[in-house]
Amino acid sequence: MASLTVRQLDDSLKRLLRLRAVRHGRSMEDEVRVILRQAAEETGREAAEPTEPSAAGAQPAAAAPSTGLKRVLLIIGGSIAAYKSLDLIRRLQDRGLSVRCILTGAARHFVTPLAAGALCGERAYTDLFDPQSEFDVGHIRLARDTELILVAPATADLIAKMAGGHADDLATAVLLATDKPVLIAPAMNPHMWAAKPTQRNLVQLQADGVRLVGPNAGEMAERGEAGIGRMAEPLEIAAAAAALIRHGGALTGKRVLVTSGPTSEPIDPVRFIANRSSGKQGHAIAAAASAAGADVVLVSGPVNVPDPPETCVVKVETARQMLEAVEKALPVDAAVFAAAVADWRPQRVSDSKIKKQKGRAPTLELVENPDILSTIAHRKSGRPPLVVGFAAETDHVVANAKAKLVRKGCDWIVANDVSPETGIMGGDVNTVHLVTAAGVESWPPRSKADVARALVEKIAAALEETKR
Ligand code: C5P
Repeated sequence: MASLTVRQLDDSLKRLLRLRAVRHGRSMEDEVRVILRQAAEETGREAAEPTEPSAAGAQPAAAAPSTGLKRVLLIIGGSIAAYKSLDLIRRLQDRGLSVRCILTGAARHFVTPLAAGALCGERAYTDLFDPQSEFDVGHIRLARDTELILVAPATADLIAKMAGGHADDLATAVLLATDKPVLIAPAMNPHMWAAKPTQRNLVQLQADGVRLVGPNAGEMAERGEAGIGRMAEPLEIAAAAAALIRHGGALTGKRVLVTSGPTSEPIDPVRFIANRSSGKQGHAIAAAASAAGADVVLVSGPVNVPDPPETCVVKVETARQMLEAVEKALPVDAAVFAAAVADWRPQRVSDSKIKKQKGRAPTLELVENPDILSTIAHRKSGRPPLVVGFAAETDHVVANAKAKLVRKGCDWIVANDVSPETGIMGGDVNTVHLVTAAGVESWPPRSKADVARALVEKIAAALEETKR
């Protein structure tokens, strides 16, 4: 491909490019790369699906990041609580959400677009009449290209404008143009909160379907002031936002069971048999199913990964405890058995620590553990409509997985190569083959979170199919 240098552009184009690059904090060459990438993505999208012209006549929007993440549009209002909104961006991201930001004029007195943009991984939007913003995204697309609009902090003034249907800046124009759910986290002085106009406006907003999180009671930024008006904490706001987004996901109304992690089979009070499973893949599947709206029960062996949000986690140690917890969780619509269950356990568990005896090593007699997957998949009644097993293999991965599918009586097997050189055991990336009665799909290497999302999408589609 012939190389294009910025010097070859005419002056007016160069000036525009320089302006755009400065605004985005990029070099002119990087800006050209971004424009070309966006144009290529747009062309690809247009080829795949003809787009309708934007209602506002704005230019085509920049591509949504191809991460498959659900997006929240966070509108930061002008209150001292705005400093918490930067932490809120992180808390939303912790829940697997992608965040895009708008800062009102007043918000910019408290936090900078640079800080918000750096945390979001894309520029923060500020100006309704910024031609560049309109070229990049357009306020109508900002209003629609999201799962939820979150206003935090929502000041008394912003609430009043929303209630009155104003649209004199980017934040209010977007709020008026949206067809997406809106959640507000009010933050203001207790007297402003209690004031009749504010309460009137809140009644109006709630009648319009706007949801509220907080405000909480507590101390205000002003010395000696306390009462209702403190913005809810970022964790609380992120939980409320995630709950609103989950509702309406592809697995809404479905109950999904996931097993994860190793089991630990005691030898004596201090020793046990275990394996190298980290629980990362199983926990990611539980998180993805929950994010898709499912009611999730996660039965987990001992792991060092955090509990996925919004899931019911049942912690167990042994295979027999895991089977008991799984049976208690039934009925479910889909069950995914990602746990690395110990195949055997010591026949006898010593009540006291087994003493070392010089020259005489103890003999461990092992007995087989119940096969949880096979037990559930072969149930005559209460078998989940979709049973998914895992096969961690070190050789003949697909052939072994096909045999396992039949032997265990499950519907799908997710097979992966866990030879030490793959780094899959305990790592963050997984290369899997999905084995079903219809055939084998080999997926390219993906993060365990992406494997989880792809599997959850397949599960949702399969459950939808069974309804027909
Ligand atoms: O036989 P293998 O351990 O390779 O089978 C793996 C699959 O069976 C996984 O889905 C695992 O969770 C499940 N399994 C089980 N109970 C066992 C052994 C394996 O549920 N005792």
